[in-house]
Amino acid sequence: MARERDDSTADAPKTRTTESGLPVAAVHGPDALAGWDPAVQLGAPGAYPFTRGVYPTMYTGRPWTMRQYAGFGTAAESNARYRQLIAHGTTGLSVAFDLPTQMGHDSDTPLASGEVGKVGVAVDSVEDMRVLFDGIPLGEVSTSMTINAPAALLLLMYQLVAEEQGIPADRLTGTVQNDVLKEYIARGTYIFPPKPSLRLVADTFRYCAAELPRWNTISISGYHMAEAGATPVQEIAFTLANGIEYVRTARAAGMDVDDFAPRLSFFFVSRTTLLEEVAKFRAARRIWARVMRDEFGARDPKSLMLRFHTQTAGVQLTAQQPEVNLVRVAVQGLAAVLGGTQSLHTNAFDEAIALPTEKSARLALRTQQVLAYETDVTATVDPFAGSYAIESMTDAVEEAARALMTRIEDRGGAVAAIEAGFQKGEIERSAYRIAQETDSGDRVVVGVNRYRLDEEEPYEPLRVDPAIEAQQVRRLERLRAERDGRAVEAALARLRSTAEGTTGNVLPPMKDALRARATVGEVCGALREVWGTYVPADAF
Ligand code: 3HC
Repeated sequence: MARERDDSTADAPKTRTTESGLPVAAVHGPDALAGWDPAVQLGAPGAYPFTRGVYPTMYTGRPWTMRQYAGFGTAAESNARYRQLIAHGTTGLSVAFDLPTQMGHDSDTPLASGEVGKVGVAVDSVEDMRVLFDGIPLGEVSTSMTINAPAALLLLMYQLVAEEQGIPADRLTGTVQNDVLKEYIARGTYIFPPKPSLRLVADTFRYCAAELPRWNTISISGYHMAEAGATPVQEIAFTLANGIEYVRTARAAGMDVDDFAPRLSFFFVSRTTLLEEVAKFRAARRIWARVMRDEFGARDPKSLMLRFHTQTAGVQLTAQQPEVNLVRVAVQGLAAVLGGTQSLHTNAFDEAIALPTEKSARLALRTQQVLAYETDVTATVDPFAGSYAIESMTDAVEEAARALMTRIEDRGGAVAAIEAGFQKGEIERSAYRIAQETDSGDRVVVGVNRYRLDEEEPYEPLRVDPAIEAQQVRRLERLRAERDGRAVEAALARLRSTAEGTTGNVLPPMKDALRARATVGEVCGALREVWGTYVPADAF
């Protein structure tokens, strides 16, 4: 058996600050809430300012949606995984797309080589979408799609497949991430420059308001910025500032705030630092409710509710002693639930090594089922309400996040700050600090800088068959040979013409092109011709 090395240093007193660098008392007492008025700061669950949660009953009626992010290889392979997850009890689908799809390139373009089906499923056309959801009744399941720059295309292909299943558009529920601003800050799967990208987001809001009333049109994400190093305060401040930019864009496009705001949604990370994460979620709800009421005059209560999905922190998974990640994910999942998430993805313990196997994916889901059905955390709403530690930390996180949001406003708003590199710079400084603390041992990472093994135990990860790329290329050749090429060209020409204008909605001509079996690469290519592509200021 590998001998454990005890790297523990003397238990030097840890400096008492949170992940966001906020002061935290070693022992909280009534003084932590001096002057605190629950009637003002808390309100009731499901009521303004929603500190305690967006629904009056939260999980006491039904647990959060167990929505495991999955997708790899071809549409057929991912379809099989979704069926496995549904069989194991998942209550919402969440599609991971490969990078060529996310960047609007077909599987047979040189740029796609080596990436087809790697970090997600390859979708080139409505034919792949049909295979992806084969045997899955789209009128009975809610589907999230992690797709940003080409979000409109994947949404329309989802709607086309639903039409083939005889499902009316107003029954479709789900979400497209559609949050291109955070792609400029972190993650990087942008295509077009900010201005046309925001137009496409607004067109998608308008299209869904008219055609897909139950569809969540955007998942404004802090997760990826957190994974890039953002602290909890930075995560919610940058995310909510992006949210404000989207609201301003839709209003400038002539939409009334209550026509689209109820279908905005959010996406955050959940770290192992449970107490601050619970405070972070509660502070984010309160800030958003106040911004939507006081800055944008929203009147519909649903416009004030910050509904969010959570994923446990991928960056906190370790490749060393991977089974220890099961413990981390359980704590992170608990933090998300105690913080009032609507939907949750729990990472598989082996994801720091490779794609999850069926067994590790099942264990990740079982973690949520234990939280939902074996613990008592669903028995009441916001169990931390009134806690000296949590309420004082919620106030502190709210205050710090609002101050950071003001710094973004002072720079002209989220887009202007992005173009000046502000958010990216702040996150890079946080990431550097975390790396230094980890290297010095101040930040303990069990199995990595403390309690290490002399020799790691072997682990056989799942591998994606490289032959799937050739298989996907053959599917594209067949599609192009069988479709009506003239109809595709005519539809793409109409799309280009609408994109060249400033008032038309690009989604209807986009849908016609996709129905005619135009590919993701061809549709995005038509828009690239008109809108160009984004080149970051600091591009090398
Ligand atoms: N009381 C009353 N109604 C309730 C209720 C309660 N306690 N609980 C649920 N409901 C109702 C809701 O009102 C809703 O009704 P509606 O559809 O008419 O609005 C319905 O039940 C479903 O409930 P929710 O909307 O709360 O839950 P969903 O799971 O359907 O939606 C969401 C959650 C956050 C709003 C939605 O946007 C969502 O599912 N987001 C998921 C995003 C996601 O999965 N992203 C993955 C990202 S992975 C990634 O980025 C890549 C990698 O790099 C990490």
